[in-house]
Amino acid sequence: MGSEIEDTAGIDRTWWKEAVVYQIYPRSFKDSNGDGVGDISGIIEKVEYLDALGIDVVWLCPVYDSPNADNGYDIRDYRSIMDEMGTMADWERLLAALHDRDIRLVMDLVVNHTSDEHEWFRKSRRGEDGYEDYYHWVEGDPDQPPNNWESYFGGPAWSYDETREAWYLHLFDEKQPDLNWRNPDVRADVYEMVDWWLQNGIDGFRMDVINLLSKPEGYPDGEIEGYPTGREHFVNGPRIHEYLRELYEETYANYDVMTVGEMVDLDVETANAYLGEDGDGLDMVFHFDHTFIDFGPDGRWDIGEWSVSDFEEIFTEWQTGLDETSWDGLYWENHDQPRVVSRFGDDEQYRYESTTMLATLLFGLRGTPYVYQGQEIGMTNADFESLEAVRDVDTRRPIEIMLEEGEIDSYQQIRDVVNYRSRDHARTPMQWSDGENAGFTDGDPWIKVNDNYTEINVESARSADRSVWWYYRELIDLREDEQTLVYGEYDLLDVPDPVYAFTRTLGDDELLVVLNWSDQEQSSSLSIEDGTLLVGNYSGIETTLSETLRPYEARIYRL
Ligand code: NOJ
Repeated sequence: MGSEIEDTAGIDRTWWKEAVVYQIYPRSFKDSNGDGVGDISGIIEKVEYLDALGIDVVWLCPVYDSPNADNGYDIRDYRSIMDEMGTMADWERLLAALHDRDIRLVMDLVVNHTSDEHEWFRKSRRGEDGYEDYYHWVEGDPDQPPNNWESYFGGPAWSYDETREAWYLHLFDEKQPDLNWRNPDVRADVYEMVDWWLQNGIDGFRMDVINLLSKPEGYPDGEIEGYPTGREHFVNGPRIHEYLRELYEETYANYDVMTVGEMVDLDVETANAYLGEDGDGLDMVFHFDHTFIDFGPDGRWDIGEWSVSDFEEIFTEWQTGLDETSWDGLYWENHDQPRVVSRFGDDEQYRYESTTMLATLLFGLRGTPYVYQGQEIGMTNADFESLEAVRDVDTRRPIEIMLEEGEIDSYQQIRDVVNYRSRDHARTPMQWSDGENAGFTDGDPWIKVNDNYTEINVESARSADRSVWWYYRELIDLREDEQTLVYGEYDLLDVPDPVYAFTRTLGDDELLVVLNWSDQEQSSSLSIEDGTLLVGNYSGIETTLSETLRPYEARIYRL
């Protein structure tokens, strides 16, 4: 919970509500030493760039020591930096460089699980005194897992450990055993570590799958089939509020920091229980509703239909359903999502228009906007021509299972879906220039560079008169100037799809956001006679809203 900024217009102003957050996936951001992997010194080289874009906060994905089964989300040592990324001294330099430019730093907090190479797990697997119950262990038949729970990455959520002669739980990869939060010693160790990072001067945490921490006693079977089986037992588990409250009270309650909880399977009502005045000390959440919109009947490895009205419904539910003191984390992209323009826009004919329309929506909603690296230049999905080119465990594993079970005969059968959905689209290297490897590295990049880097890159976007980059900058500046965009109430306007229009109101001030979410001209069905245009993605717009909106046209007016 952060301290409040001086109240100027009768609102409780809070810095993290007014901030724009920029997410860095360090492995793919900038490599400074030619080993093909992005690193902390690379980020330091780009702090000036971040400042020029105008963002306020950096969320840094894990840089902690890790064997990288899940690219840093499998932590071996919470208090040291992964060799490939640099050293603690580099991290301190990064913090100072960001703070020098008034950019805050939010770290990733991954405490649902550790790596199986973490000291705690090594001791626990050997049954060492005091560590026996650090993880979820169940003894029994080595051929029969304790229950039917599944991992989010596919396959059973349990693996048998020969050393301990027992099963352990992992809701993600088998190299990511789940910590046993029922054990007070685990909680105390985690709080000590969290406090240590806070003392190092950071400005908050993004909390990984934080509503999965609590698992029920007895590990009952899941009754509901689906992604993944067992979730009714471990999502928002029985003691989750107690754990989160305690974590808050023991650690960040004492600091002026922000927290954002990544929460799976979250609905608005449950979000309200975590957030706000009566919540658990969490500032905002990431929910997934709008990212499930294009799953097909067979789930996420199937592409489904979506419509603008589906989005309207979801956003309106969240915008109006969150309590007055609750707050939303707004995002299109992150390191787990494909590129938004390839997904919900048009990455060929209308790349500029559709990217900027989607950006206008993101910044038009109530909540804190998160921009993922590359989103600000409209990076697109790539083509992963073979399974060998795919790096992500959460793409490889499900495909390996499909191949093993004969659901598909070859990778080529699923290539289109991978090219649509894989997490690797977000992880292709940041496209800095049209030089070798998009200016990301002098060495061999750890993952393929998107072929379109000669056309889509930071250098050309910044030197163009009109580009996605400049539009993002304009939106960031606008949000800084317009309190109504931050705090205003949201009201949906009744216009026919695919036009999406809503107002934001704060006191007497009213803003209108209007979007044509299609590649055809559309009537806006609105007539604005004396509005002031604040931003728009087509040039030559007048102050009045004409009847026709061009493909993917987006505008924000003051009414
Ligand atoms: C959510 C993270 O965003 C994702 O990248 C990771 O694989 C899982 N949590 C497990 O930590």
